[in-house]
Amino acid sequence: MLNQFLSAKQIKTDPESLSIWGKDWTNGFVVAPSAVVFPETSEQVIELVKYARASQTALVPSGGRTGLSGGAIAGNGEIVVSFDRMNQILDFDQQEQRVTCQAGVITATLQEFAKSHNLFYPVDFASAGSSQIGGNVATNAGGIKVIRYGLTRDWVAGLRVVTGTGELLNCNAGLVKNATGYDLRHLLIGSEGTLGLITEVDVRLARAPLPHSVMVLGVPRVGDLLHVLHTFNEHLTLSAFEFFSDLALEKVRAHRDLPAPLAETMPFYALLEFDAMEIDAASAAFAHTMAQGWVLDGVLSQSDAQAQALWQLREGISESIAPYTPYKNDLSVCVSQVPEFLNDVDKFVADSYPDFEVCWYGHIGDGNLHLNILRPEHLSVEEFMAKGHAMSPKIFALVQQRQGSISAEHGVGLLKRDFLNYSRSPAEITLMRGLKSLFDPDQILNPGKLL
Ligand code: MLT
Ligand code: ZN
Repeated sequence: MLNQFLSAKQIKTDPESLSIWGKDWTNGFVVAPSAVVFPETSEQVIELVKYARASQTALVPSGGRTGLSGGAIAGNGEIVVSFDRMNQILDFDQQEQRVTCQAGVITATLQEFAKSHNLFYPVDFASAGSSQIGGNVATNAGGIKVIRYGLTRDWVAGLRVVTGTGELLNCNAGLVKNATGYDLRHLLIGSEGTLGLITEVDVRLARAPLPHSVMVLGVPRVGDLLHVLHTFNEHLTLSAFEFFSDLALEKVRAHRDLPAPLAETMPFYALLEFDAMEIDAASAAFAHTMAQGWVLDGVLSQSDAQAQALWQLREGISESIAPYTPYKNDLSVCVSQVPEFLNDVDKFVADSYPDFEVCWYGHIGDGNLHLNILRPEHLSVEEFMAKGHAMSPKIFALVQQRQGSISAEHGVGLLKRDFLNYSRSPAEITLMRGLKSLFDPDQILNPGKLL
């Protein structure tokens, strides 16, 4: 019985709680857990795994529930394991620039903690105020600064994880160098709760960044976005290179009541961030891109407040299109292939689904495009999702042709599970299944996700 090792306040079974903790931000899946539990210690997580094995009950790990691929959806009587009560920063080593967090620490709390010690946690995205560090690790979260600082993986110095056999692994313990064979830490990062339940993370922190400036540029053609990227990369170090289409801008402006960044509407916009001291180099790059016709207009932040206001144009997009219940895809190809790939997808959608509106945005500097198709008013959510599911394999085939990824940063979860073969070979999938069986022989950890 759960109440043999958890107190009454750590177990919820009322319908409202089941519906809140039983899902993430993904649309269109059944939500039906049997209970939600809130462990407070690694020992309680171990007890939970033992209980799950003995009773053959599946466990669904749950962080800030901001996922967009259904990785935290419990649709089949599972017990949801929420890390909301394991939300403490346990240790900080100023000299090593390293902090130890319980899995439930909110990403923004870690960012603030780093700042208060004149350091920096550089993994950032719009949902940082809700997402948890354990979920970030489980999905190897990316976001808006990857071009300079890399992914979550690059900042994880150690992990404590409870496997599906109830063993607590202490992976790497903060070492910088450790050449003792397979690095299980990196196998667990991005494993979406299918190999183990992350309880603690040792996170490396960076030096505090210099003040930065933001530019938003109007770009006529998608190919020009890459010319702009290369020009700025030649002149200076960018910390972000994001893009969005005119439709994305229209939606975010309407939703947040934001002014237009430029005098005229452009097909595409690039948002660039760089150290303010590099302003001369940025001005030279801007002048070159204007002279070439790759950029038609631009705006530069004159203060932190203006920089933040310009960021809203990009970071508010996802929230602003949510009321359209978009069919979301998170794709990547090599950066050089982005223009042709985007044009292939646009052509396919225009030819096959002429009533669908495509809203493009994303981390183009990483080759990561968020393809969001907005639901036309005449279709119900169910009809639209069914059409989206039917359309996806055709888009994934375009991804496969370019050896791209069908999920760049949102994970596979439930949404992409049946399409994994578009990005991973049969041999890879067989090895992944083998690893799953080793870590979780009874298949109790997030079953049905990823594989
Ligand atoms: C973003 O980049 O805005 C996030 O990945 C969320 C989304 O794709 O909607
Ligand atoms: Zn993103």
